[in-house]
Amino acid sequence: MSITVYQDKFFILNTEKTSYVICIDHHHLVSNVYWGKRIDRMEDFDGADILQTLKANNVQTSIEECSSFGGMRFKETSMKVTFTDGVRDFRYKVKEHNVSDNKLIIVLEDIYYSLRVTLHYCVYEKENIIEKWREVENFGNENIILERFYSAEYGIEGTGFETMNYSGHWGKEFQQSSEPIHSGKKVYESLFGLTAHNANPFFVVHKNADEDTGEVYYGVLQYSGNFKTVVEAVPNGYVSILIGISDTDFEWILKPGEIFKAPSVFSGYSNHGFTDMSNTLALFARKHIMPKNWAEKPLPVLYNSWYSTFFDVQCSDQIKLAEKAAKLGVELFVIDDGWFEGRNNDKAGLGDWYVDREKFPDGLAPLIKRVNELGMEFGVWIEPEMVNANSNLYKKHPDWIYRYHSREVLMGRNQYMLDLTNPEVVEYLIGCFDTLLSENNIAYIKWDMNRYASEIASSVQKPEDYKTIWYKNTQGVYKVIETLRKRHPKVEFEACASGGGRVDYGSMTYFDEFWPSDNTDPLDRLFLQENYSFIYPIKYMRAWLTDDFGMNNRSIPLKFSMHSAMCGSLGIGTNLNETEEEKLLQIKKYIDEYKNVREIVQLGYLYRLKSLKKDEIQAIQYVKEDNSALFIFLDHERYGKKFHRLKLKGLNSSSLYRYELNGTEWTKSGAFLMNMGIEIKLLGDYDSLLVRLEKIEI
Ligand code: DGJ
Repeated sequence: MSITVYQDKFFILNTEKTSYVICIDHHHLVSNVYWGKRIDRMEDFDGADILQTLKANNVQTSIEECSSFGGMRFKETSMKVTFTDGVRDFRYKVKEHNVSDNKLIIVLEDIYYSLRVTLHYCVYEKENIIEKWREVENFGNENIILERFYSAEYGIEGTGFETMNYSGHWGKEFQQSSEPIHSGKKVYESLFGLTAHNANPFFVVHKNADEDTGEVYYGVLQYSGNFKTVVEAVPNGYVSILIGISDTDFEWILKPGEIFKAPSVFSGYSNHGFTDMSNTLALFARKHIMPKNWAEKPLPVLYNSWYSTFFDVQCSDQIKLAEKAAKLGVELFVIDDGWFEGRNNDKAGLGDWYVDREKFPDGLAPLIKRVNELGMEFGVWIEPEMVNANSNLYKKHPDWIYRYHSREVLMGRNQYMLDLTNPEVVEYLIGCFDTLLSENNIAYIKWDMNRYASEIASSVQKPEDYKTIWYKNTQGVYKVIETLRKRHPKVEFEACASGGGRVDYGSMTYFDEFWPSDNTDPLDRLFLQENYSFIYPIKYMRAWLTDDFGMNNRSIPLKFSMHSAMCGSLGIGTNLNETEEEKLLQIKKYIDEYKNVREIVQLGYLYRLKSLKKDEIQAIQYVKEDNSALFIFLDHERYGKKFHRLKLKGLNSSSLYRYELNGTEWTKSGAFLMNMGIEIKLLGDYDSLLVRLEKIEI
C-alpha cells in the first residue's frame, strides 16, 4: 500500500525509498509532518499531531499543504483569494478525505464562504515520485477572485540548505547556480509568456549534496507558461518552497460553479545526491510523462538544414544535402526555416503555412520522395504561434494578435504573437498543420517559438479577463499540439523556442524531444548538457555537429565535436554540400559508432563522473543493462599530466567487462573498474575518447 491513513488524521505516502507524511492537526490545519527517507512504522507518528497543533499556534512556521494569504501568515503563501465583500483569506475545515489505490484527495472548505480547495496526491511507488496538484471550486453564487493559486507547497525543517536553478539567455541556456538560503526569498520566475531561458519551472533544495551523497528535495512543474518558484527561509522555522503558475499579472474571476485546476508538480527526495535525482526523474519522465511513441525507443539520427542554408532554401540544394546525409547514415532529413510562402528572411511569411512555390515549384513532394527513396524520413520546421506583419494571414486578420488598442504593438524578431485564446486562431492553426501533415509524408515537426509575449490583451477576451490570457494562451498551445498528435500519432515532434526556451515538463507531455540551445560549440555544450541532465532526460536532448560558425572564435577538432554531440540524441547540421569527402567519411564513422551506443546513451542510467566545472576532464558514463558507454573529454593540456584515473560506476562487481582502450582489448571485473578504475590517456587540447564496455559471459 503506497498510502496509509492512520488514526484518521495521518496520511502516510510511501514510495519504495521515501515517505511523505501529512497530518490534520487539532485546528484542522493540513500540514506536512515529515518528508524524507522511508519510515515504515506508522505508530511512530503517534503524538505528531499534538506537536503540529502546537506549531500551528504560530501558523507562520507551520509547513502547510495549502497556506493562504491572511491570518497570521507573513511569508509568501500558496494561494490568495478575494471574496466580493473584500475579505481576503481562506479559512478552512477539512471536509473529507479519500484514498483510492495510489491516490489521495483532501477536501478543504471555507468555514464561511462557498470556496472549496481539493488537494490531490498520487504516489508512484516504484518510481519514488509523488505528484501533487490542486483544484479550487466556487460553489456559491458570487464571483471569487483568485489572485494566486500555486500548484503545491513543500517545507524542509532546518537550516544550511542551498537552492539550485538554471539561468541564462539565448545561446547560453542551462547555466546552473546554487545559492545558500540563509534569509529572505529566492524567486525563479518567468514573465515571458513561456518558460523561456532565464529560469526553469522546478525546485531543487539540498544540503551539501554532490553526485552521490547528500539530501536533495526536488520537484518539477508540468507547465509551459509563466511560472514562479519561491524558496523562502522562514525565520525560526523552515525552508518554504512554493511552485506553480506565476501570480504576477494573474487574476482569475472564479464564477459560480467554476473550477480552476493548477498543473501538477512531480516531487522526490534522495539522500544519495544528484545522480539519484536525475535518474529518478529521467526514468519517471519516460514512463509517465513523455508521449509513448519514442519514450522507450532511441531517436533517429537527424540532419537539420538551418546552419547550412538558413533562409536560402532551394529544392535542388536540399536534395543534394539529403543525398549526402543519407550516405552518412542519417535517418531523418529536416528542412528548418525558409520553406514556406514568402519566407526569404525573418521579416515575412510566418502565418502562411503553405509551401513557397518559387522555391518548390511542385510542392514538397519531389523532395520528400527523394528523401524517402534515400531511406530517410522527412521533417519540417514550423512556428505556429507567430505571424509576420508581412503575411497574408496578418493582412486578413490583424485582430488575431495580442495587442493593446491604444499602443504600438512591439515586435520581437520582427513578429507578432497570435492570440491563442481565440478559438478561431486555434482552429486555423490546427487546420494548416493538419493539411500539411495529411498531404505530405512528414514524419517529424520542429515546433519553434521565437519571441516573448507583450501587450497581453485580446479581441475575444473582456478587459477584466486579460490577466487570464497568459494561462489561456498556454492552454491554446497545448490544444493545437494535442490535436495534431491525435490526428497524426506517428509524427515525431520536437520543441524549440529560440533554442532552449521551452524545456519543461509541460511541453514534455506533448513533445518527443527538445532543442536545448542554438549554441553548438562543442565545449560550451559540455557544460550546458551536463547542467541540463540534472533535471531533464538525456534522450530528450538533441545535440548536433555543426560547422564552426564563429560563436566563440575557436575551432574544435571533429572527434571532440562529434563526441560532445554523441552525448545526447545526435543530429548533424554541417553544410554537407561544402564538406570535403574525407571529413564526410569521418563523420560517417562517428555516426556508425553512435548507433552502436545510442540505446545506452538515450535510455541508460547516467553518471556524471567528472565535470570540467571542477575537474581536469569531463567524463560521462551511461549504463544500460549489460552495456556501458563512457565519454571522456580534455579541453586543454596540463603540462606533465598524461593519465587520468577514472573510477566507473553502476557496473556489477562480480561481472567481467570487455572494452577497447588505446588500441588494446581488455577484460576486467566490475569491481576493478569501479574501485581501481581505468587510466585514461588524453593529450593536447580538445582530446576525447569513447569507450564501450560490454559484459561478457564467464
Ligand atoms: C530559432 C531556433 O532556435 C533555430 O534552431 C532555428 O530553427 C531558427 N529559429 C529558425 O528561424
